[in-house]
Amino acid sequence: MSAASGLRGATAEAQAPIASSCPASRSASARVLRAWNIEDLRGLAKERLPRAIFDFFDGAAEDETTLRENRAAFERVRIAPKMLTGVAQIDTSTNILGARSNLPIAIGPTGGIGFGWPFADVGVARAAAAAGIPYTLSTMATSSIELIERARQLGYDALMVTVDVPVGGKRERDFRNDYVIPFRFSRKNLLDFASRPGWWFAALRYGMPVLENVASFAPEATNVSEIASSVGRFWDAGFNWDGLKEMRDRWPRKMLVKGILRADDAERLAGLGIDAVVVSNHGGRQLDGAVAALDALPPIVRAVKGKISVLVDGGVRRGVDVVKALALGAESVMLGRATLYGACAAGEAGAVRALDILRDELVRAMQLSGVRSVGEIGPDLLAN
Ligand SMILES: Cc1cc2nc3c(=O)[nH]c(=O)nc-3n(C[C@H](O)[C@H](O)[C@H](O)COP(=O)(O)O)c2cc1C
Repeated sequence: MSAASGLRGATAEAQAPIASSCPASRSASARVLRAWNIEDLRGLAKERLPRAIFDFFDGAAEDETTLRENRAAFERVRIAPKMLTGVAQIDTSTNILGARSNLPIAIGPTGGIGFGWPFADVGVARAAAAAGIPYTLSTMATSSIELIERARQLGYDALMVTVDVPVGGKRERDFRNDYVIPFRFSRKNLLDFASRPGWWFAALRYGMPVLENVASFAPEATNVSEIASSVGRFWDAGFNWDGLKEMRDRWPRKMLVKGILRADDAERLAGLGIDAVVVSNHGGRQLDGAVAALDALPPIVRAVKGKISVLVDGGVRRGVDVVKALALGAESVMLGRATLYGACAAGEAGAVRALDILRDELVRAMQLSGVRSVGEIGPDLLAN
C-alpha cells in the first residue's frame, strides 16, 4: 500500500483536548516570539538540532532543484492589488473539503518529526486545533493511529493517500550524515549529536522516538541507499490505480490523494470518487526535476472543473503565498516545513508561532491586495 495519513478537520471534535505535548523552556518560547518570519524559525531550528536531523527535515532529493523551484514559482507570481476597497475587516475563514476552517491553510503530513522535538506531532496538532485549521497525522508519525481501520474508528474526517512515494527519493544529505530510521548512532554522527546538548537533553528525558504506526512491520533495510533513504522503504512500488480503488471502496469518508502533478491524473481521480487532490511534489523530496507544485496547479484546476477540491503544497513560507495559490485556483494550501521548523525550535509554542506569523502575513497581504474575504481572492488579482 502507499503512505496513508489521517486528516482531521477544524471541527469541534478536533478541538477537543489533545494529549499534551512536551513544553518548551521559557528561553526557547521567548526566542520564537522574536522570529518574524518562517525563515527565522528555520534558523532557530538549525541552531538547536543536530545537523543530521535538521538536514533530514530541510533537505530534498539529489540536487534539490525541485525544492528551490517550489519557492521560485511562488516568487514569480505577481499580484495586481485593488485599491479603495475598504479593508478594515478581513475574514480569513473558508471551507476546506466542505468543513469550516479559520484559514485557507491545513497542516500536511510530516513523518518522523518527533526526532526534532519530543512529541512534535502532538504539539503541531494542538497548534492546528488552536488556530482552527485541519491537521493531517502522517502514517510515519511518531504518535500512533494504527492505519486505516483505526483512523476510521477514531473518527478521522478524511484519509489522505500519498502516491508519490513508490520508492524513496535519493536524499543525499541523509547519506552524508549517516541518518537512518530506525535511528542509529554511528561514529560519524556521534560528534554531530554531541554538539547539540539541548536536543540530547530532551532525547534522554523523553526517549528516542519510534515510528509508531509502522514499527511493527518495518522491514530491516538491506543496503546503504535503502537505509539512508528510509522513507519509501515501507511502501509497495507496485501500488497502482487498482489498489487505490480498493482503498476508496474500503474507506467510507472523504479521501484525498496527495502527490499529483498532472491534469490527466487529477481528472481520473475525480472520476474515481476521490474528494480532493493535493498538488504536490513532496517538498522536492521525491523526484528531483519534478515540476514546481504551484506551476502544476492551474492545469489541474482547469481539468477537474470544480468537481473536486484542489489543495497545493510545497514552498509555502509567507502569507502572500496563500493569496497567490488561491488566486491560481487552490481551495487551500498545506504546510510542511513551515510549522515543522517552528516545532523544532520550541515544540507546540514554535508551531503556534509559525501559524501566528502566517495568519498575520495573510491578513496583511489580503488588506494590501484589496480583498476582504477568501471568496474575493480570484484570478483577477494576478498581474501575470
Ligand atoms: C520531514 C518531512 C517529512 C514528511 N513526511 C511526509 C509523510 O509522511 N507523508 C507525506 O505524504 N508527505 C510527507 N512530507 C511532505 C509534506 O507533506 C509536504 O508535501 C511538503 O513538506 C511540502 O513542502 P514544504 O515543506 O516545502 O512546504 C514530509 C515532508 C517533510 C519535510
